[in-house]
Amino acid sequence: MKLNNSLRTRTSTLFYLAATASLLAKVGQAVNHANFKTCEQSAFARRHRLFADTMAKKVAEPNSKNTKSSSSSSADGSTHPASSPYSVIDSSVHLDGHTVTASVQHEQAQVPLHFEIAFLKSGTVRVRVQEVDPLVPRYSEAHKHILRDEGSSLPYASPDDIKMATEAVNGLVTHTVSYVNGSSAFSVRMTENPWTLEYLVNGKPTMQLNTSGLFHFEHLRQKPADGDLDNVDGGWEETFKNWTDHKRRGPESFGLDINFYGFEHVYGIPEHTSPLSLKDTRGGGEGAYDQPYRIYNLDVFNYQLDSPMAIYGSLPFMLAHNAEATVGVFWVNSSETWVDVTRKLNRGGFKQQSVVNTHWFSESGTMDVFLLPGPSTADVYRQYSEISEQTPMPREFALGYHQCRWNYEDQEDVLAVSAKFHEHSIPYDVIWLDVEYTVGKRYFTWDYDKFPNPLGMQQELARNGHKLVTISDPHIMVDNDYRIWKEGNENGYFIKNIGGLGNYEASCWPGVSSWVDFLDPAASKWMGAQYGLDKFPESTTDMFVWNDMNEPAVFDGPEHTMDKALIQHGGWEHRDVHNLYGMTQQRSTFEGLLAREPVAMRPFLLSRSFYAGSQRYGAIWTGDNTASWGYLRASIPMLLSNNIAGMHFSGADVGGFFGNPDPELLTRWFQLGAWYPFFRGHAHFNTERREPWIFGEPYVSYIRNAIRERYRLLPHWYTLFREASLTGMPLIRPMWMEFPAEPDLFAEQDTFMVGSSIMVAAITKPDTSIPVDVLFPGEEPWYDMHTHVAYPAQLTTQFVVDLANTLVFARGGSIIPTREQQRQSSAYMKSDPFTLYVYVDQAGFAAGKLYIDDGETYDYQSGAFIERELTFLGSKLISRASPLTKNTSAHQTFVQKMSGINVERVAVVGLAIAHNVAEAVVVENGTTRTVNVSHSHSSKIVATDTVSNNSPCIVICNPAVFIGGDWEISF
Ligand code: GLC
Repeated sequence: MKLNNSLRTRTSTLFYLAATASLLAKVGQAVNHANFKTCEQSAFARRHRLFADTMAKKVAEPNSKNTKSSSSSSADGSTHPASSPYSVIDSSVHLDGHTVTASVQHEQAQVPLHFEIAFLKSGTVRVRVQEVDPLVPRYSEAHKHILRDEGSSLPYASPDDIKMATEAVNGLVTHTVSYVNGSSAFSVRMTENPWTLEYLVNGKPTMQLNTSGLFHFEHLRQKPADGDLDNVDGGWEETFKNWTDHKRRGPESFGLDINFYGFEHVYGIPEHTSPLSLKDTRGGGEGAYDQPYRIYNLDVFNYQLDSPMAIYGSLPFMLAHNAEATVGVFWVNSSETWVDVTRKLNRGGFKQQSVVNTHWFSESGTMDVFLLPGPSTADVYRQYSEISEQTPMPREFALGYHQCRWNYEDQEDVLAVSAKFHEHSIPYDVIWLDVEYTVGKRYFTWDYDKFPNPLGMQQELARNGHKLVTISDPHIMVDNDYRIWKEGNENGYFIKNIGGLGNYEASCWPGVSSWVDFLDPAASKWMGAQYGLDKFPESTTDMFVWNDMNEPAVFDGPEHTMDKALIQHGGWEHRDVHNLYGMTQQRSTFEGLLAREPVAMRPFLLSRSFYAGSQRYGAIWTGDNTASWGYLRASIPMLLSNNIAGMHFSGADVGGFFGNPDPELLTRWFQLGAWYPFFRGHAHFNTERREPWIFGEPYVSYIRNAIRERYRLLPHWYTLFREASLTGMPLIRPMWMEFPAEPDLFAEQDTFMVGSSIMVAAITKPDTSIPVDVLFPGEEPWYDMHTHVAYPAQLTTQFVVDLANTLVFARGGSIIPTREQQRQSSAYMKSDPFTLYVYVDQAGFAAGKLYIDDGETYDYQSGAFIERELTFLGSKLISRASPLTKNTSAHQTFVQKMSGINVERVAVVGLAIAHNVAEAVVVENGTTRTVNVSHSHSSKIVATDTVSNNSPCIVICNPAVFIGGDWEISF
């Protein structure tokens, strides 16, 4: 279908200009705080904070008459200054299978709450709370969108392994529910009056619930007569700027304190611009915030750095870490949520330990929280993977470099930019089209004036191994001549006005628009089907999708988003499901792309908004950042926090969306971006062109090197995705995750790990003459990946790094696979040979993995993959199949297809052997042959001091062993 350009309505154009002008006005400025609520401007949040203040006072005056209060202490001295109006109703505690149930009630309200506390096999505890008999139903389906298999098949512990004992501890009736799994003993200790819950792992308290007495559950109630809107502040209506939010169900929020006993650091709950180790939020200490972390997806362009404000996406998963353990909390709720963090640091006090107090409060729905016991990080991610699906294997091309701009003007521009990459020998995989390719922001249409032959353009790109991504936002222009709007309208697929009648209409890029209600399975399916080759005109299977503005962004809505009282599928208010919006759009697109080909190919899509569960569907990026060093630096903790929370495939706009980076900033951003899991350059239309070659030499060479390094290491990245898909382990990791007992690293965020074997020390400041300090952790040596210079562990070294260089180190003891031949895209690397870098540890040992599959289908699920475990010891490198390799026919076919793809080089770094060793012996398929060995030394030293060692490098030249086979190479 060709849409006539005259369809661009006047309203649309005017609106667009107005919106753009307002956007431009903001460029380079700080966020407009007045547009977004503070905690004091959000009625339920204000109520919970006030409640927290009241309870804190009561703890300070324990003899208060109004609440039950007690002080009990754990065996190891942790105290529970519990003071709470909630207690368990007599004799209501029962152990039923794997679940303990209890009725709990506020001392002044005869409204019983139903508590369920259940053990999962791994020791994870799930605590659910809802009203026994709510006046009207509460939204209790968030878990269906968020959890694995809609939460229907969680692996609960066997009832036989669970015991409950009841006794009086310090005068409090206490129920202890114990669960033993192998050598781990988990127990939950629940006091009746007041209600508190303490979670112990092997006898040690880890997490405590309601020990600060902040559990508070607003039961549903009849609306009082007009003029007497109850004494619940803002419970029935609240006003922000010009918007009044009428709450048809009244106050219905709930909150809980979760305290991490023995911990000083908590992490995660993205997306914020706060440091990696989350700061306190109730003032006090230096740099502490006075606002809680907000979990409410919002379009906040030009977002502020170092802030707990909500931005585009969120994921309510938090980790706490100390030198002995890592534990996690997963808060399953889809309404607006806030989290206060405060610390009590007790260093050296007798039997006293540090505690991080966290206070979570959500606006509606039911309480559903998982406590993950660890104790190692890998354990936490195993436990998380039990309840939440993990990042699946992506399309291989998606790991390459993506070139985007708002906008590549027309077809000629797209093809010219593509040709320039070739001319400058810079690899790239995907070129992107922003909103201007459409007719007046009507998605699924082409502006044929600018793109006269979209099919031909895609074919030309594909011939050179490139893909195209086009943007498709969730707002649909209201226009009777626009098929998508017409169909959506006829079928009732749009979000409805308050009261449920008529489509909600408001403004976004196209002008007046309606929003697809992705919560409605039929609407979701219909929208997904629009990506079908039969529906999206002139689309090909080399075209993929970018879902933007899906918080959802509404230009004239409260806080740039939707009114909470709008009605979605099932009659639920938008309030109940706001945070699911972006994720449900991703799901629809993912399913649509999956269905568009007869043989399922892995979809690729990028989304701006995300929530728990989004990791199943594709990549996200951190939205509209700015070309400044601060934003470059902030991208690291932001992406690490996403990875901590399981949203692995994340990136930030390389170069900064707003503003113009100077050549130094752009170069450094490419050098950093090459280590983002998702690697895309993007820019606002009001910026100057900044494709990698724009600044000429020497910058183009530096940027080329950075992008090429990404491509060399694609086998490593792909193997990391394999690990993430199986174990949930982050792709990029904070340093503490690999060195969990080194407190100096607990707040480190300029340096990070890519998997377990590469450390990247980002250069986050201008001026190449300023030295950069790098702490080399652990016990094993580190090797500069470019020079092979070795650095001993436990030493801080200073580097002066000119713009040609970066600080990237391989960890002694690792084997890292690369593909060294430079191509114009990943598609052309598929048959290339591999190089294996062996970086030995002090004992001369190294190990690593390599995972390969076809990079596009789901055949790997039937065994069509090669997964090698590589070990080096003494002077022998061995390749063996991983235990997950199954000799299925799919496996055999894949191995057959890969035959001839060999190892062309093995470089062993850091091993001192006699220089006269000139040959290596290769044993493969029962035959033995010899190959040449060459010796070299690291060449360049960039450290400013002399601690570095020239390390030897032995290169085994063309051993020509099959990448998918068993073999040994020794010298
Ligand atoms: C939003 C996106 C940005 C995009 C623009 C136009 O601001 O965050 O990446 O270029 O919309 O679609």
